[in-house]
Amino acid sequence: MAKQLRLGLFENAQANDSGTATWRHPDNKRYLFDSLDYWRGTARMVEDAGFDFLFLADAWGWADVAGDRPEICSVEGLDLPRLDPAIILGALIPETSRLGLVATGSTLLEAPYSFARRMATLDILSGGRIGWNVVTTGTADTAVQGFGVPMVGHDERYVMADEFMQVVYKLWEEAWEEGALERDKDGRFADPAKVHRIAHEGTYFRSHGYGNTSRSPQGTPVLFQAGASPAGREFGGKHGEAIFVGSGSVEQLLGHSSAIRDEAEKNGRARTDVKIMSAFAAVVGSTEEEARRKYAEVADAQNPEVTVASYAWFTGLDLSAYAPDTPMSELSTELSQTQVARFADKTVGDVLGDWHAHGVGARPIVGTPEQIADRMIELADGADLDGFLFAPTIPPASTEDFIEHVLPILKDRGAIAPQPEQPQSLRERLIGTSTPALAETHIGSSYRKSLTRV
Ligand SMILES: Cc1cc2nc3c(=O)[nH]c(=O)nc-3n(C[C@H](O)[C@H](O)[C@H](O)COP(=O)(O)O)c2cc1C
Repeated sequence: MAKQLRLGLFENAQANDSGTATWRHPDNKRYLFDSLDYWRGTARMVEDAGFDFLFLADAWGWADVAGDRPEICSVEGLDLPRLDPAIILGALIPETSRLGLVATGSTLLEAPYSFARRMATLDILSGGRIGWNVVTTGTADTAVQGFGVPMVGHDERYVMADEFMQVVYKLWEEAWEEGALERDKDGRFADPAKVHRIAHEGTYFRSHGYGNTSRSPQGTPVLFQAGASPAGREFGGKHGEAIFVGSGSVEQLLGHSSAIRDEAEKNGRARTDVKIMSAFAAVVGSTEEEARRKYAEVADAQNPEVTVASYAWFTGLDLSAYAPDTPMSELSTELSQTQVARFADKTVGDVLGDWHAHGVGARPIVGTPEQIADRMIELADGADLDGFLFAPTIPPASTEDFIEHVLPILKDRGAIAPQPEQPQSLRERLIGTSTPALAETHIGSSYRKSLTRV
């Protein structure tokens, strides 16, 4: 029997996806990203199709080339404007009943105390369907200017993220025990013995006192992570429950998934405790030729200036300032190291060409529905993946194509995990825990009073 895969949809609350400008394509409706109708339609579509979750990526900052934001960024709606993904998730709670709702949040820029409240509120109102993609913000250099906070280097951002996690675990797991709320009009509203002070005095954060919300159904939202640098993988193996990896060959993806599972093991977790999901894009045609033509339309619509500006946004590097034959191995960054390391054997000229059609996103598989379904199964089996994060090249048309033409083949082959019959927490559905709470092998569960007391 085929492996049963999990599915998420990658979306972004802005007109384009990171690093591309596809908003002019006639089938692109995400140029209306600031209308609630777009999000309602997308959420309903993927819930009905049986996806496990909808993921809203996020970034702070803007593209900066040689000290300024190039005009092309406004002309093409490249980096800005965007909306706050957590607020969109809130609006999608009543539109959906089973779909997991996941958003990115930055440990560099958020304040843990208010962030913990925002996520707990979403988890409470959705009945435990919330996930958080923990990022240290690869676009940090411009982002910190907006926030007026100091720049923190790449690896130190992960040290800071680890401390951020300590604070939010205290708030989500320790501050309010499960069952603290009694709401008994003849008795008491909450049991004082189950409400605890927390104390955190660290290098980056201080927090003392009581949590602002009671415990949510999942306590800690499902923790997603996508850092691919050595520091990022170490962090993911310790805290991540679902890990996003980029697209790649079977060999490349197997390398990523085994390195992440090794990190999980080092943290006393089972290799299968982390669910690995690869970003996946597809351009579907009824024939190979039609698919290639559709992909050429996407690639042709890109603008080389967009490529330079968006690469600078993610890495701080202005590739137009280097000779095209410069080896990428000579460049380094304090921003997203992955976006440099993935081209280690290439030149600047290669990257300008390769980045062109898909930016930081997944390089699409271009082909017929059968070819795409075959490739997904081959990647999942060969690279030990638990599922895919489908990233539409043209939103929502590419998602509609995938649902209409590829998903039925995967379902016929038994390769898609069945929908839960009853509403379930995202953690039970995606991670496979027996309750909505963090697994006992997860570092965050050690903060639970009810567990640590025994
Ligand atoms: C599928 C996927 C989704 C991602 N989503 C985000 C995101 O929403 N925001 C963000 O800042 N980085 C995002 N990233 C990037 C990573 O989280 C990470 O920040 C980046 O790779 C830089 O860290 P690193 O140098 O440790 O890899 C994503 C990566 C992948 C593969």
